[in-house]
Formats: sequence, C-alpha cells, structure tokens
Amino acid sequence: MGLSLAVYAPAGAAQTVGIGLAQANNCVACHRVDDTEGRKRLGPDFEVVAKRYQGNAAAISHLATKIRNGSRGAWGAVPMPAQSHVSQEGAELLAAWVLSLAGDASVGSGPNLDDSSSPALQPQGSNNQ
Ligand code: HEC
Repeated sequence: MGLSLAVYAPAGAAQTVGIGLAQANNCVACHRVDDTEGRKRLGPDFEVVAKRYQGNAAAISHLATKIRNGSRGAWGAVPMPAQSHVSQEGAELLAAWVLSLAGDASVGSGPNLDDSSSPALQPQGSNNQ
C-alpha cells in the first residue's frame, strides 16, 4: 500500500508518508529526523545522513541496501542491524525520503518537523528561528 501512496503524493504529503514509513518500520527508535527532535539516538540524524550524500546519484540504492542489510563503520562504532522486515521498495522509499531531507528548508531551518502531527504542509512561520 505504501508505494502507491508515495508515488502519487504531492511534495508536502510525501514528507508525511516518509515519516509514517519510518515510524511504522521503527527506524525512529534509533534515528531522529533532525536535531530539533528530542535527544540524539543511536544512529545518525536522517537530516545529517541526507547532507552527507547530497548530490550523490547512487545514494538511493546505496542507502536502500544499507537499510536492508545493515550498516557498520559509516558513522561510528555502533552498527545498524539489518532491517530485513523492510521490503526492497520500502527501503528505496525510505532512502529517497531520507535523502530529500537535505534540500528541504522546513527540515533544515525550522523546528516544525518534530513529529508526524507537524506536517510540512504548515505554512512556514517567518519568526520561528
Ligand atoms: C537498532 C537501531 C537502529 C534501527 C532500528 C535503525 N537504524 Fe539506521 N542506523 C543505526 C546506526 C547505529 C547507524 C550507523 C551505522 C554505521 O555507522 O554504519 C545507522 C545508519 C543508517 C543510515 C546511514 C547508512 C550509511 O551508509 O550512511 C541510514 C540511511 C539508516 N540508518 C536508515 C534507517 C532506516 C530507514 C531504518 C528503519 C527501517 C533504520 N535505519 C533503523 C541504527 C539503527
């Protein structure tokens, strides 16, 4: 079901779908979306991951593979266990969503993406920085 949702979702809703997928797959147990959200967790913030791979055309498949097979040594001493409950399609969607966070002003500069009840559809306050 998730795939068609994401494919047809407009840009704003895609944020919500991505977060929903990350929550449904329990990624958020170990990752924050960005550093405005609670305490740092075990894995790197997704926004920070996005910035590292910004402009890297191979990043979606690279990260999708990492998501499904696990990762070690890319960010520090703690490895990420294989997320084998995630389908290939789901992993690609998640990778694409994570990567999209680097270029999104609502994530990069605003504190308004703290959870799924705060969709990117909100008008950006000019006074929230
Ligand atoms: C048990 C904790 C844990 C869970 C659950 C988890 N991760 Fe991770 N993740 C990590 C850690 C730790 C790292 C850093 C691994 C490393 O240094 O290579 C990481 C790294 C990553 C990276 C960067 C990989 C790279 O090569 O730069 C991505 C992308 C990622 N996780 C996505 C996800 C997604 C999507 C999910 C949910 C399906 C998820 N993670 C679930 C702990 C977790």
